[in-house]
Amino acid sequence: MLLLELLLVKEGVIITTRKVLLTGDRPSGQLHLGHYVGSLKNRLQLQDSGDYDCFVLIADVQALTDNFDNPQKVRDNVYEVALDYLAVGLDPTRTTICIQSLMPALPELTVYYLNLVTVARLQRNPTTKTEIAQKGFKASIPAGFLCYPVSQAADITFCKAHVVPVGEDQLPHLEQTREIVRSFNSIYGEVLVEPEALIPSSAGSRRLPGITGTDSKMSKSLGNGIYLADDKDTLWERIRQMYTDPGHLRVEDPGQIEGNVVFTYLDVFGTDTAYIAQLKEHYQRGGLGDMKVKKYLFEVLDAELAPIRERRLEHAKDPGAVLEMLREGTKAANEVANATLREVRAAMKIDYFG
Ligand code: TRP
Repeated sequence: MLLLELLLVKEGVIITTRKVLLTGDRPSGQLHLGHYVGSLKNRLQLQDSGDYDCFVLIADVQALTDNFDNPQKVRDNVYEVALDYLAVGLDPTRTTICIQSLMPALPELTVYYLNLVTVARLQRNPTTKTEIAQKGFKASIPAGFLCYPVSQAADITFCKAHVVPVGEDQLPHLEQTREIVRSFNSIYGEVLVEPEALIPSSAGSRRLPGITGTDSKMSKSLGNGIYLADDKDTLWERIRQMYTDPGHLRVEDPGQIEGNVVFTYLDVFGTDTAYIAQLKEHYQRGGLGDMKVKKYLFEVLDAELAPIRERRLEHAKDPGAVLEMLREGTKAANEVANATLREVRAAMKIDYFG
C-alpha cells in the first residue's frame, strides 16, 4: 500500500526523509465552515503538494472526554466526519485517516506523558479553561477532560509529526505537546519530534465567528454553525439569519462593517476583492440593504460548497466503503504508532524482553 512506500518502518524504527503532517478532529458533530477555513483547507493544500506523509485522526477518545454519557453521538459522528473528509477532498491514497480509539499505542503513550505534565499546567491551558467554563463543569471537571491535551500529544507524536495544521484555538495544545516532547527527549533521549502548528494567515480564517456574531467561534454546542453537509436551502436560511449591523435599520442608513458577520465571511470566502470593497463602501455610505449583501454571500459560499455537498452525497451511498477506508487507514497508522511506541519503551528502559 502507498503509505508503506512513503513511510518505511524497518526493524521497528521509522525511516523517512519526508516531512510528516498530522491533524485531527473531534467527532462530536459534523464539520463546519470554521473547520474548513481553519484547518481543512490547509491540510488539503499540503496533501496535494505531495511533500508530506499525511495523517488525519478522528479523535473519538477526545470527543468522549466530554460526551462519555453519549456514546452513540460520538459513534455516529465518526462516520459523518469521515464523509466530510472525503467530501472536501482528503484522499485516502495520500492521507491516512485513522480512528483514535482503535490505536492502543495512543493511551499507552498518554500514560507515560502524564508524568511529564503537572496538574497546575493542565489547569492553566487557556483552551481547556474556556471549554471548562463553557461546559459548566465548575468543580466537577472530569479528569479525562483536563488531561486530553496530553492524549493529544500522543496523537501528534505517534507519527513524529513535524507539521500540525489547526485552528488558532489549538495553539495552547500544540505548546503543551512541544513541552512534553522537550521534556521526554531531555530525560530519555532524542526520540520524539517537536511539532510546529500551522495556522491560516488571515485572522478571519483563524477564528471564523458563528452566524450569531457574538465574539465566540463557530461551534456545534453554540448552534451558530454552517455545516459542510448543509443543503442549499439550509445554507440560505443560515445566511438569512446572519448577524449584521443592528443599527442598520433602513436601507438608506449608513451601516457598519466591523463585527458584521456577512462582511467577515465575504473577506474570508470571497475572491472578487474589488467588488467586495465596492460593496463595503456602499454599505458604509448607506443605501445598500443587508439582503443584497447576503444574496451575494450565498452565491459565493454556494459556489464553494456545492461540489463538496455533491461528493458527500456520492460517498454516502456506500457506507461500507467508508468504513473499509477507515479500517485500512487505522491499520496503517497502527504500524507507525507501534514502531514509535517500541522506541519510546526502549528509551524509557521498559523494554524488558528486548
Ligand atoms: N483538539 C482538536 C479539536 O478539538 C482535535 C484533535 C485531537 C487534534 N487530536 C489532535 C488536532 C491532534 C490536531 C492534532 O479540534
